[in-house]
Amino acid sequence: MSKTKFAFVLGTRPEAIKLAPVILESLKREKQLDTIIITTGQHKSMLEQILELFKIIPDHDLKIMQHNQNLASVTSKAISGLYKVFEDEKPDLVIVQGDTTSTFCGALTAFYKKIPVAHVEAGLRTFNKYHPFPEEINRKIVGSISDFNFAPTYRAKQNLLAEGIEDSKIWVTGNTGIDALFAVMKIKHEISKQISVIFKRKKRTILVTAHRRENHGRPLKEICKALSNMLKKFKDIQILFPAHLSPNVQKTVKEHFKSTERIIILPPLNYSDFVFAMKNSYIILTDSGGIQEEAPSLGKPVLVLRETTERPEALEAGTVKLTGTDSRKILDAVSELLQNKQEYLAMTSKSNPFGDGTSSEKIIDLLNNIFNKHKG
Ligand code: UD1
Ligand code: UDP
Repeated sequence: MSKTKFAFVLGTRPEAIKLAPVILESLKREKQLDTIIITTGQHKSMLEQILELFKIIPDHDLKIMQHNQNLASVTSKAISGLYKVFEDEKPDLVIVQGDTTSTFCGALTAFYKKIPVAHVEAGLRTFNKYHPFPEEINRKIVGSISDFNFAPTYRAKQNLLAEGIEDSKIWVTGNTGIDALFAVMKIKHEISKQISVIFKRKKRTILVTAHRRENHGRPLKEICKALSNMLKKFKDIQILFPAHLSPNVQKTVKEHFKSTERIIILPPLNYSDFVFAMKNSYIILTDSGGIQEEAPSLGKPVLVLRETTERPEALEAGTVKLTGTDSRKILDAVSELLQNKQEYLAMTSKSNPFGDGTSSEKIIDLLNNIFNKHKG
C-alpha cells in the first residue's frame, strides 16, 4: 500500500519557524508518511537560514521572491507554481501555517485541486480587515477552506465556531512556535561575536522589530522618532534593531538612524541569535506576531507597536501591552517600564498562554491517525 503523502507549503520566516517542528514530527513517521516540503520562496535568505538551522531540505522551491514585491505578484506566481507541483506530487493533504500570502495560496491552490487542507495556527482574529493587512483576511479565507483547523487556544477555536466552522474540524493544540522556541534553545549554536559583544555592555537593551505592511511609511517613522527620544531620555539604555529586509523598512530606518554605539541597526538575526537577544534584553518592542507568543516563555515584557492584536490571550495574561505607533505613547510606555520595577515585574514571570511545546506532536499524531484510518 502506498504511503500517505503530506505536502507542507511555506514561504516566509515565521512559517518556517512554526512549521519546522511539525515537519520534523512528520519526517519521524517515515514508515507511514511521505513528507514533501514545498517552498514558494516568498522569502529567500530569511527563510533559508531557518531551514538550514533545522536541517530541512525543500523538495520544491518556486523561487518567487522579487525585490520590493507586491501582493498581486506574490499571489499569482505562488498559485501557478503550486498548481503545477500539486499536479505532479498529488499529495493526500496540504499543510499550511499562519496567515501569509504563501499560506493563503497554499490553501487556495489545494482547494482548486480538491486536496484536503490542514491549517496550523487557525482561528486568530482581530476583526479588522486592514489590521494586520492582508493577514487578517488571508487567515479567514484559509479557515473557510481548511478541513483540519489547529487552533492554538480555546479562544481561537471559539472564533472559528462563530464563523460556522464545524466543531469536528477544530482541535486546540497550542502554538507550534513554542515547540520551535524550545527546540532552538536545545540546538548547540555559537552566538555571533557581534551579538555577544552588544550584550556584554552594561546597558539595558531594548530589542526592536517592525515590518508590518500597515506600519510602512508614517507609523514606522513615528516608531523611529520614539526610539530617538528614548535614547535622549535614558542614558543607561541601548537599542538593538534587526531590521526586516523589506525595502520599505530598510529605507525608513536607515534614513532615520546611523548605526551608533547606542542604536545598533542590523540585518535580521538568525533565529538562535535572535532568541539569545530576546532572553538578554530588558524590553521588546515589536509589531511581530510570533514574538508576542515567544516572549512570555522567556519572561520578557512586550510592547506591541500595533493598534490591534489577534493574540488577546497575551494581553489578558498581562505579558504584552498595545502601544500603537504614536511616538509619544510608545515613549510613555517604555518610560513606565524602565522606571517602575513593580510594573515591569507585573509583565514578566507569567505562564505562556500559547502552549507548552507539544503542539507539533499532537498535530501529526492526529493527522496520521485520521489518514491511516481512511487508507486502511
Ligand atoms: C511577509 C508576510 C507577513 C510576515 C512577514 C514575515 C504576507 C502578506 N506578509 O511580510 O505576514 O509577518 O513576511 O517576515 O505574506 N526580502 C528579502 N529577503 C528575504 C525576505 C524579504 O530581500 O529573505 C525583501 C524583498 O525585497 C521582498 C520584501 O522583503 O520583496 C518583502 O517581503 P514580503 O514577504 O513581501 O514581506 P511582507 O509581505 O511585508
Ligand atoms: N526572528 C528572527 N530574527 C529576527 C527577528 C525575528 O529569527 O531578526 C524570529 C522571531 O523569533 C519569531 C519570528 O522570527 O519567531 C517572527 O517573524 P516575523 O516577525 O518576521 O513575522 P510574524 O511573526 O510577525 O509573522
